[in-house]
Amino acid sequence: MTKQVFLPDDIPAEGKKILEKAGLQVVVGTGRDPEKMKSEGAQASAVLIGTQKFDAEIMDAMPNLKVIARNGVGYDSVDVDAATQRGIYVVNTPKALSGSVAETAVSELLAISKNLYQNAKAIHDDNWQYRKAHPGRDIEGKTVGILGFGRIGQQVAKKLSGFDVKVIAFDPFAKSTPDVEIVDRETIFKTADYVMVHLPALPETQHSIGAEEFKLMKNDAFLINMARGSILVESELVTALKNGDIAGAALDVFEEEPLPVTNPLVDLDNVLLTPHIASNTIETKARMAIDATSDIVRVLSGEKPESAVNQLK
Ligand code: DGY
Repeated sequence: MTKQVFLPDDIPAEGKKILEKAGLQVVVGTGRDPEKMKSEGAQASAVLIGTQKFDAEIMDAMPNLKVIARNGVGYDSVDVDAATQRGIYVVNTPKALSGSVAETAVSELLAISKNLYQNAKAIHDDNWQYRKAHPGRDIEGKTVGILGFGRIGQQVAKKLSGFDVKVIAFDPFAKSTPDVEIVDRETIFKTADYVMVHLPALPETQHSIGAEEFKLMKNDAFLINMARGSILVESELVTALKNGDIAGAALDVFEEEPLPVTNPLVDLDNVLLTPHIASNTIETKARMAIDATSDIVRVLSGEKPESAVNQLK
């Protein structure tokens, strides 16, 4: 019988071609609602998901499932232990998106420094003079502190290399390089003008940045989070932003997504908020689709996947 691959959200044609060439049937669903996924994906041997929760209950509604592919790098939304217990591979696409996420991180760092969003909005509000009381800041000569110096953190340092900034990083597994000094965690918060979060979402990193860290930061420093909302204590960030403990924040990820418009962050002037777009580019979406579907084909052909996050016996 032809095996089915369930796509709750549609993916670029490059990925679908790989599945069809391998003789797999592609079933495109109607979105991320768990009940819909359970019924639309009931026959699936593979599923390709975004950041939606994928737990044991959903897995049990798909009895033929052999592989859950994450269209991205973070897999905190997937119950990996439940998948392993059921003999299901969980794969991701870590190589496809580092450059893109780093580009977005640097873009947001520049945008928040130059107050781009508020100034652009002022034009639409017919308020040319907004700029007078809201000068930007240069990043030249400043210190950028990167928390988490894996693939994405390293790409951020590379992209910043032409900006005349000092780059420091904290990562228990990284070594200093000629261009980046590895420092302890506290030094990042105390000395960086820009703290950039590129940590994985793990139990150890959950809510690991809160009031204590914001108090360590300089009053004119910025926080940029492109990793996961769960790493910050969001309510304590709101307090720090309101009290002027830090100058501002650029956030692409939130504790709750989609970010409710009633969230207090939305009312602040010293934030740049984007809807989880760091890897949402035409080029990267195509690369992620190619990597994810290639691993799906490997698993369904009885081969080992290239990017498994769990080990099966
Ligand atoms: C990732 O790859 O985890 C990004 O956050 C997009 O899903």
